[in-house]
Amino acid sequence: MEGFTIPLFFLYSLFSIITTSKALDTITKTQFITFNNTIVSPSESFEMGFFTPGNSKNWYIAIWYKKIASGTIVWVANRDNPLPNSSGVLKLIDPGILVLLSSTNNTVWSTNTSRSTRNPVARLLDSGNLIIQDPNDHNPENFLWQSFDYPCDTLLPGMKIGKNLVTGREWHMSSWKSKDDPAQGDYTYWLDLRGYPQIFVSKGSVVLFRAGPWNGLRFTGTGTVLTKNPIFKFGMYFEKDEIYYRYDLLNSSVASRFILTPNGFAQRWTWINQKKGWVLYVNAPTTVSCNSYNLCGAYGSCDGDKSPVCGCLSKFVPKNLKDWNMTNWSGGCVRRTVLDCKNGDGFLQYSGVKLPDTRSSWYNRTMTLGECREVCLKNCSCMAYTSLDIRGGGSGCLLWFDELVDIRLFNEGGGQDIYVRMASSELDLTVHQASFNGKKREIVIVTLTLFTGMLLLGLSIMLYIRKNKKKKKKKKKKKKKKKQDSQLKIEGRPVHNSKQGSTEKNQKEDMELPLFDFATIASSTNNFSIDNKLGEGGYGPVYKGRLEGGQEIAVKRLSKYSDQGLDEFKNEVICIAKLQHRNLVKLLGYEGGRTFMDWPKRFHIINGIARGLLYLHQDSRLRIIHRDLKASNILLDIDMNPKISDFGMARIFGGNETEGNTNRVVGTYGYMSPEYAVDGLFSIKSDVFSFGVMVLEIVCGTRNRGIVHPDHHFNLLGHAWRLYEESKSMELVDGFVRDSYCLAEVLRSIHVGLLCVQQHPEDRPTMSSVVMMLGSEGELPWPKKPGFFTETDGSSSKYAPCSVNELTITTMQPR
Ligand SMILES: *[C@@H]1O[C@H](CO)[C@@H](O)[C@H](O)[C@H]1NC(C)=O
Ligand SMILES: *[C@@H]1O[C@H](CO)[C@@H](O)[C@H](O)[C@H]1NC(C)=O
Ligand SMILES: *[C@@H]1O[C@H](CO)[C@@H](O)[C@H](O)[C@H]1NC(C)=O
Ligand SMILES: *[C@@H]1O[C@H](CO)[C@@H](O)[C@H](O)[C@H]1NC(C)=O
Ligand SMILES: *[C@@H]1O[C@H](CO)[C@@H](O)[C@H](O)[C@H]1NC(C)=O
Ligand SMILES: *[C@@H]1O[C@H](CO)[C@@H](O)[C@H](O)[C@H]1NC(C)=O
Ligand SMILES: *[C@@H]1O[C@H](CO)[C@@H](O)[C@H](O)[C@H]1NC(C)=O
Ligand SMILES: *[C@@H]1O[C@H](CO)[C@@H](O)[C@H](O)[C@H]1NC(C)=O
Ligand SMILES: *[C@@H]1O[C@H](CO)[C@@H](O)[C@H](O)[C@H]1NC(C)=O
Repeated sequence: MEGFTIPLFFLYSLFSIITTSKALDTITKTQFITFNNTIVSPSESFEMGFFTPGNSKNWYIAIWYKKIASGTIVWVANRDNPLPNSSGVLKLIDPGILVLLSSTNNTVWSTNTSRSTRNPVARLLDSGNLIIQDPNDHNPENFLWQSFDYPCDTLLPGMKIGKNLVTGREWHMSSWKSKDDPAQGDYTYWLDLRGYPQIFVSKGSVVLFRAGPWNGLRFTGTGTVLTKNPIFKFGMYFEKDEIYYRYDLLNSSVASRFILTPNGFAQRWTWINQKKGWVLYVNAPTTVSCNSYNLCGAYGSCDGDKSPVCGCLSKFVPKNLKDWNMTNWSGGCVRRTVLDCKNGDGFLQYSGVKLPDTRSSWYNRTMTLGECREVCLKNCSCMAYTSLDIRGGGSGCLLWFDELVDIRLFNEGGGQDIYVRMASSELDLTVHQASFNGKKREIVIVTLTLFTGMLLLGLSIMLYIRKNKKKKKKKKKKKKKKKQDSQLKIEGRPVHNSKQGSTEKNQKEDMELPLFDFATIASSTNNFSIDNKLGEGGYGPVYKGRLEGGQEIAVKRLSKYSDQGLDEFKNEVICIAKLQHRNLVKLLGYEGGRTFMDWPKRFHIINGIARGLLYLHQDSRLRIIHRDLKASNILLDIDMNPKISDFGMARIFGGNETEGNTNRVVGTYGYMSPEYAVDGLFSIKSDVFSFGVMVLEIVCGTRNRGIVHPDHHFNLLGHAWRLYEESKSMELVDGFVRDSYCLAEVLRSIHVGLLCVQQHPEDRPTMSSVVMMLGSEGELPWPKKPGFFTETDGSSSKYAPCSVNELTITTMQPR
């Protein structure tokens, strides 16, 4: 459910609760609960007793937080059978059941059990679970009954959403009717076990939102999720008797709860001690229309960035064009060429999607993707296949046997691949393979990107391969099993096809990049004319060109004199070809006065870089450490979206590796972390350091090493830290943004920047924390001293305030 992060401050004062100082944690046959006493868990995290919500006159037995977040209700016993007033008693009776009796001795609510015991005890645990057990049972987990089996609107750590396959018991969340009425409301958050298990939010029997199946990292419908973080562990568990979703807190000093609100939003709230309040971390479904279940019909795809939001997957057309034109998308789309199973269908790969509804799916957790494809190909009613778990290159097999519905396109990363059955005539069999043999000194890789009308900075490489119908064919392929092999390699990307003429973004994988011969490139760039030159980077010059078809391209030419060789170049090609994210380079530089870089733009840039880096570090299929992050490697497109570029130094890591060592320290002084510059040790935390430097540079509008101050010889990091220590961070801010800034954002950016540049890698936050910190209002830790905070050549004494230098984003800095 986690796709979105909204900071909100929530004061919980809705309930009046009767509490006394009695601190027992048990109910026994002789100890009751009445309205004037409660029980409290051993370390006082939770309390249970009588309560009456908001404006209601009804009374309930409930469990709430005690030590922190006092009064926040997490569970209500008799939610559908309230007491009319506070006279009632909760007592434990034989054979081990709790009963709530009204003043007239009517049983208002009770637990039940299939076993009996002679000395039952009801106990409130520190997890918030109320259990009934036999204290003499040698297995203390052998509960006769537990409240965790009966969730209300709150999922606490350790509670389950799912089903016990043996007893048939289901665990789901159901909302309150209103904030004054804990009775079961309209909304449920539940796990559907038909096909491959997936999470739904329903209103009554109508599905509102499908979070979808778990893919090893997240529910497919939730886009980018911070799955790896120091606070939570999320997981879907497939056990012999039970299938369920659960989250656990990794740090018991943090409080967090996941709730379903009376109006159907699933929200995660985390307690911030310093604020004495709950902070909203996740809210779903958001109002983004793509969250509405099956908005675009079968084989439609929803793209929240487009208007209208619905389109057909590429190679599909609207089923009923008239309805579709009138934005009635419910009819969905159909293949533009009907399947012909007898004559050999194939599969087309769509990337970056939310997987379709799996209620009519089949799965096997051990099959490989290749086996999966074979099985699907053999059965004419199998419509698509993919991996179950996207971690570590993918494992398991998921097959669909019906129309594909509720597909969504994630532009920001977080989507995954699906292979959809397609008639063989729709499969483009021209697969191009690039080969890098050392003989050719002038390998030219081409990007087809639209940069008309933009101001260019150049310097960087771009590699975004678009489908080019007329491109030259270089066939260097193995001939065996020609058809099937090539089908496997074809990758498309679902695009909007709402109008007939569809553009297609096809991206080849596995280095299947089109190879252009030298003559084509030379003519496209007017023989590498100086007029076409955009800039120059470590490799050599970059040119603007135009292919025969009219598509504009950027060409990077390897210079004979470049000290960066073929290896770096290949590395970059490989990295970019494998990556796909809005904030990774696709294009472009921008040059302009920093005067119109107002604060919102700068903050947008900071956030964009953070997200791009997060993708590199953990969301892409590969773990990538960039190693040369600096302002001049961040390019801005016309909408001021930052793009991380220049992957020449990047290292690709396996899923578990996090750190490497190199004898060859390459990078840029001023951006390199101490452990990397000095010991050659690099890790994601060295990228974080570089990111922190950039944040401070963006805020201040000057280069780290470019600052000169009359009072000290600190560089920007030292200067920023000093001002921070003196609570004068605002002095750091570039004069040009002073009219446009939002104080909280500016201070937070500086604070986050300082956390990133701390001396010790282990003190620096991960990029997922950074993204979270930038997007929330929670309290941040106090930054320690930055690494490298003095300027070695701080001899000049000329006073130059922060704001005089040029914004570094526009500066080129040869390595
Ligand atoms: C609780 O309330 C009942 C009835 O109002 C009263 O008899 C009893 O003494 C009270 N107990 C305590 C501990 O205050
Ligand atoms: C609670 O309600 C019952 C009947 O509805 C009544 O008999 C009893 O006196 C009431 N108790 C109090 C404390 O108002
Ligand atoms: C309720 O039950 C208790 C004990 O069983 C008894 O003492 C009391 O008189 C009963 N009260 C009413 C109103 O029936
Ligand atoms: C508990 O009671 C409910 C409803 O009366 C019933 O459906 C369920 O089977 C009972 N469970 C046990 C363990 O007896
Ligand atoms: C748990 O969180 C607290 C407060 O946020 C922090 O002080 C503590 O170091 C954390 N413990 C661990 C093991 O991360
Ligand atoms: C639907 O819209 C397209 C493009 O706007 C148009 O060419 C087509 O004729 C329309 N079809 C119908 C049935 O209205
Ligand atoms: C939308 O189209 C479907 C069939 O494509 C039709 O059944 C439905 O009535 C239409 N809805 C509206 C509001 O026109
Ligand atoms: C899953 O696939 C494996 C390997 O192909 C096979 O051994 C196993 O029987 C399959 N399981 C099911 C339930 O089909
Ligand atoms: C194809 O798969 C469906 C669903 O699993 C199954 O009912 C059908 O028998 C299969 N057909 C063949 C030819 O295996």
